[in-house]
Amino acid sequence: MSHLVDRVKVVSFTPPKFKDQRVLIVESAPLKMSESSVKLASMLSKHIVVPKPGNVYLKIRTLREKVLDARSLASAIYPVLTYAVPYFIEEYEPSWLGLASVIDVRKAEPSIVSAGITLRKGTRITSRRPCIAVLVFISRSFDESPSKLLRDHYRLVWNFLAAVLHTKLGQSVEALKLYIPRPKYVVLSTIAYSAQENFIEVRVPEAHTTLKIRVPLRRPQWTLNDVPRPLREDLEVAIINPIRGRASYAPRGMLIVGPPGVGKTVTAEAIASSLGLNIAELRPSIYRSMWYGMTEKALDRVLRTLFKRRNIVVLIDDADFLVGRHISMHETHVSEISIFLQYLQQPKRPLVVLTTNNPDLIDAALVRPGRIDVVLFMGYPDREMRRQIILKCAQRYGLSIKEDLIDFIVRLTRWFTSAEIDALLRLAASKSGNSLSEESIVWARSKFQINEGTRRAVQEQLLWYSQRFQGIVLSYIPRESEI
Ligand SMILES: Nc1ncnc2c1ncn2[C@@H]1O[C@H](COP(=O)(O)OP(=O)(O)OP(=O)(O)O)[C@@H](O)[C@H]1O
Ligand SMILES: [Mg+2]
Repeated sequence: MSHLVDRVKVVSFTPPKFKDQRVLIVESAPLKMSESSVKLASMLSKHIVVPKPGNVYLKIRTLREKVLDARSLASAIYPVLTYAVPYFIEEYEPSWLGLASVIDVRKAEPSIVSAGITLRKGTRITSRRPCIAVLVFISRSFDESPSKLLRDHYRLVWNFLAAVLHTKLGQSVEALKLYIPRPKYVVLSTIAYSAQENFIEVRVPEAHTTLKIRVPLRRPQWTLNDVPRPLREDLEVAIINPIRGRASYAPRGMLIVGPPGVGKTVTAEAIASSLGLNIAELRPSIYRSMWYGMTEKALDRVLRTLFKRRNIVVLIDDADFLVGRHISMHETHVSEISIFLQYLQQPKRPLVVLTTNNPDLIDAALVRPGRIDVVLFMGYPDREMRRQIILKCAQRYGLSIKEDLIDFIVRLTRWFTSAEIDALLRLAASKSGNSLSEESIVWARSKFQINEGTRRAVQEQLLWYSQRFQGIVLSYIPRESEI
C-alpha cells in the first residue's frame, strides 16, 4: 500500500442535514473537487438514494484520459458520504454504517486515494453491523471482475481507515481490524479510459448461461459537406442544433427514404459526425435467434442497453425488415416490431435513424411523430450534387480530373446515383490510371446501363409519396430540369 499514515489528512464533520451522524474522511493526497468528481458522485448517489435489490456495478468509460485524475475523482466521496450515505442510513437502515473509497489500481501496487465512513453518533466503529460500501476503482481497463475487486480491496480499505483513525483520533485499531463490518449493499464502480469503443456489449441472461451480444460501433466517415447543399441547413436547424443544445423538443427519430445508392447512409453518418457521436448499427442478424422466444428477449435487452446511451446515434439501415404488422405473417416478427414501437416511444433516448428504399413496407405506427419525428426524402442527385460527388471521389481515390472534364462527367451522369458516379470514376481510373482522360470516361460510361425512364418514374413516385406524407418532411428531390 503506497501511502504513509502520518502524511494523510483526516477530516471529521457533521453532515448538515443529518445532525446525529458523523463523517470521517481520510485523504491520502490533497483532494480537489472538479466537474468530473461531481458527476461521479451524482452517478453513485442515485443508486444509494434509491437502492437496487442487489449490488450495483457501474462501468464508467471515459474518452478523455484527463478525467482519470485520481485526486479529483477521489473527492467524489465527500458528497457521497455527506448526503447520499446519511440519507441511506436514515431512510433504510437506521443503524448502518457507510463506507466510501476511491482506489487507484492502475499501478501494480494499488493506492487508496480517499476513504471515509459515515456513522450515527454514538455508534462504535467496532460495531459488527453490516455496512453499505461504495467503492470506486480507477483502472486501466475493465478486465478485473467486480467480485474480485471487492474481495481484494474491501478489507484493505478498512485496515487503512483503522490505522489512520487510530493514529489521528485514537480509535482502537485492534478492534477495528477484528470487526470489519460485512458489506451488505455494495455500489462498485470501475472507471477506465478507452479511446476507441468498438462495440457495445449486451448481456442476455438465458436459462444456464448468459448470451453476449455485441453491437458494433463505428466512427462516422462522412460529414455535412457530403450532403446535398439544400439539405444542410434544414438538417442543422431541425435536427443537429436542437440535439446539440439538448433541447427538450429535439427530434429523437428520423427516417430517410430514397432509392438505393443516393446517399442515405452517408447522410445518416453526416448527422452523427456533426453531433460528434459514434454510430451503433443495429441489424436483425445481431439479435435474431433460432430459439423460441429468444429473438424478442435479445432485442429487448439490446434496445434497453442502446437507448440508455446518449453518446451514440442508433442506425437501423435498410429498415425494411420492420415491415408492417399487417403484411407480416410471422409471430416473432410481429412482436419484434412491437418491441421497437415500444422503445421508440421512450422520451429519453439517443437519436435513431432508419433508412429504407421502400417506405410502403414500413409499419405505419413506426413513422408517427414521437417515434419518428422527421422523414427525409432523397432522390437522384442534381448537377451541383454530382459535381460535389465527383470532387469528393477524386479526393478519396487520389484522382486528378481537369475542370472541363468535371463538367463533362456531370453531363454524362444524368440520373446516376451517388454510388454509380463513384463506380464510374473508379472504372475510368482503372483504364487511364490516376489522371482521368475524356476517353476513359466515355469508355466507362459505355459500360453503364441506366434506364432514364425508370429513374424518372422513381423520382416522380418519391415526390408523389413525399407530398402525401403526414408529419415533418424534409426533402431533396431535384426536378428533371435540375438533373
Ligand atoms: N456526397 C458523396 N460524395 C461522394 N460519394 C458519395 C456521396 N454520397 C454517396 N456517395 C457514394 O455512394 C455510395 C452509396 O451511398 P449510400 O451508402 O449512402 O447510399 P444509400 O442510399 O444508403 O444506398 P442503399 O439504399 O443501397 O443503402 C457511397 O458508398 C459513396 O461511395
Ligand atoms: Mg444505405
